[in-house]
Amino acid sequence: MKEITLDAYGKLNLTLDILGRRPDGYHDLRMVMQSVSLCDRVTIRETENGQIALRTSASYLPCDRGNLAYRAAEAFFAAVDVANPGVALYVEKRIPVCAGMAGGSADAAAVLRGLRRMYAPQLSVEELCRIGERVGSDVPYCVFGGTALAEGRGEILTRLAPIPECWAVLCKPDFPISTPELFGCVDAKKLTSHPDTPGMCESLERGDLNGVLRRVYNVFEAVLPEKYSEVFVIKDKLLDLGALSTCMTGSGPTVFGLFDNAAGAAQTAERLRREYPQTFCAAMVNLGEQFL
Ligand code: C5P
Repeated sequence: MKEITLDAYGKLNLTLDILGRRPDGYHDLRMVMQSVSLCDRVTIRETENGQIALRTSASYLPCDRGNLAYRAAEAFFAAVDVANPGVALYVEKRIPVCAGMAGGSADAAAVLRGLRRMYAPQLSVEELCRIGERVGSDVPYCVFGGTALAEGRGEILTRLAPIPECWAVLCKPDFPISTPELFGCVDAKKLTSHPDTPGMCESLERGDLNGVLRRVYNVFEAVLPEKYSEVFVIKDKLLDLGALSTCMTGSGPTVFGLFDNAAGAAQTAERLRREYPQTFCAAMVNLGEQFL
């Protein structure tokens, strides 16, 4: 196989909880993650020159070790007993950048999945996730995909029952939020509200969409600095336009609203897009082992 193209799905946090700071400077998290149909496209081509090369459709993105997709290829060949024959990676970006949707991690995970298929099909999903861990905290989940509980730094993954049918409108305001800066605003001991993660897992298990919608919650919203208050404006707009539940995803600033029908989501996305060009409509994507 000399060339392969894969979808690299973005993610939503149905819940995001911070349990405490770890001695290594990271935080212990507990999050319910969900893949969505908004995806980048990653192509891997064998070049036979022994090098890793990367291009992307977004001129402002780095094409070297500053890009998680590049680092994923490096980590893959460092971890497996296969010499790099030379690979050219191309990332077609569609997931907004610096958005809280794990776009960069999704690209890295797609590189790992593609290289596994090309050069090491015997690797298990667990082994591939372990390679992903070295690239970034969200990469193991992006290798795993679907509906999952992510704990520890994000690398301890448990498959959950797929979310009942629903649709998301994703709206990214025109500013980035730095993930380390936002983690710096959190004192886990002072958080007074936490998501009901067990209740979320049970609602998923029962196929209870209302139970899921009621429990969507991200603790970062409680510590969001005033300069990012546009996030709450978008949440209100989504609710006014018919969203059943809204939340910021990851460390933001993307806000999502959930809908129980595709038409309502599509209409809302169209309305919001007039004001926020980076507004998307997405379906939930349920992936199992076959994802590899
Ligand atoms: O692992 P990754 O490089 O994606 O993490 C980016 C930043 O997010 C880290 O430098 C850290 O500030 C923060 N982080 C954290 N705890 C986690 C994951 C990320 O504090 N579990």
